[in-house]
Amino acid sequence: MRSCAILFVLTSLLGVGGHVHADDRELLTELLTKNNCTACHFIDKRKYGPKLKDVAAKYANDQDAVAMLAARIKAGGTGVWGQDVMPPQPQVSDADALALATYVLSLK
Ligand code: HEC
Repeated sequence: MRSCAILFVLTSLLGVGGHVHADDRELLTELLTKNNCTACHFIDKRKYGPKLKDVAAKYANDQDAVAMLAARIKAGGTGVWGQDVMPPQPQVSDADALALATYVLSLK
């Protein structure tokens, strides 16, 4: 329920419309492709970076996860999932980082 509320706020902010759609996954896929995340991440499978469904599971009970991951998506990092390094992603807009974090966390 919490992620639905966040999505509602987010989609309202972005002017996308105020409801949670079944095609969130499509929107996520588009954003991942547009921002070149797909070079290292799949939704359902581990690639160079962690499987995005595992990311959702890891932070399922973390109230601050959306803001934290949005920041991390832009800044990159290492040490959370192993020794591999995610480089900074300066091409990602703040709005896209927030949307990516929200959609990733809503994965089941
Ligand atoms: C060059 C490869 C690469 C690219 C490109 C990349 N990532 Fe990552 N990503 C990684 C690696 C490696 C990790 C694990 C880092 C760690 O262990 O701390 C990671 C971790 C993450 C995490 C989990 C962070 C955490 O704190 O648990 C998220 C969410 C994520 N990436 C999303 C994205 C998104 C969204 C994009 C596109 C804007 C992206 N990544 C682009 C390699 C990449």
